Amino acid sequence: MVSTRFLVVSLTSLALAFAQTDNCPEIPVTGVTMGEPVPMKPEDIPKGCSDYEILVARGTSEPNYEAGGGKFGIVVGDPVVSNTTLKLPGARGYPVQYPASANIISGSLQGKTDVVKRLITQAAACPRQTFALVGYSQGASVMHSAAKEIPLVLYGRIKAIVMFGDPALRLGEVLSRFPVGLNGKVLEVCAAGDPVCDPNGTCTFYHLTYIRPSYINTAVDFIVKGFTGK
Ligand SMILES: *[C@@H]1O[C@H](CO)[C@@H](O)[C@H](O)[C@H]1NC(C)=O
Ligand SMILES: *[C@@H]1O[C@H](CO)[C@@H](O)[C@H](O)[C@H]1NC(C)=O
Repeated sequence: MVSTRFLVVSLTSLALAFAQTDNCPEIPVTGVTMGEPVPMKPEDIPKGCSDYEILVARGTSEPNYEAGGGKFGIVVGDPVVSNTTLKLPGARGYPVQYPASANIISGSLQGKTDVVKRLITQAAACPRQTFALVGYSQGASVMHSAAKEIPLVLYGRIKAIVMFGDPALRLGEVLSRFPVGLNGKVLEVCAAGDPVCDPNGTCTFYHLTYIRPSYINTAVDFIVKGFTGK
């Protein structure tokens, strides 16, 4: 069992305690076994319609912020969804149904299929619904794969795409591009030094720092602006 409370404490302290420097802090003991799947909870899938829905694909083995009622991942999804909702009441999150485990190939397939299906189904059922796509780490790869299969007719309904610690970015700007028509709506959030997204990065610690308000607030403002135009 993942000790979420302890993880919260560790991540909060890491977010606050360290300024970004050239040295590489140790990763705090989190109680999370990397590669383990995160249980999917269909009961967390929101019902009915909402004008603003944020689809979140979590990072590998990223647990929820259980103590805070989180459903989307403690480092990125939970703070992004809760803070977007503060600024834009009525916004809500959709937890992409994929295991986020070490089985990256089958999991990614499952995740992208789920994203595309959710967009098509909700867009048909809810004529006013618009979407933001958020992916962290492996979840960013899920969103890249999904984007290739999103029907063109739905592009106008997708208002913002935010990638955190995107592995595609490490491969270069060209390979990290989204399809034309979506690419202009993308914000890439990559911590300097994060080896997953920064081609010069060598310090895994920075891959866990996206919980910092500077990163989360930037993403929230981008999403709110995408949804409202303001
Ligand atoms: C990586 O480091 C090299 C050499 O210091 C530098 O020229 C380059 O701009 C850096 N690339 C990125 C993406 O920061
Ligand atoms: C969420 O919003 C609150 C209120 O504006 C702010 O204090 C907090 O730092 C934000 N959380 C993150 C992780 O950015």
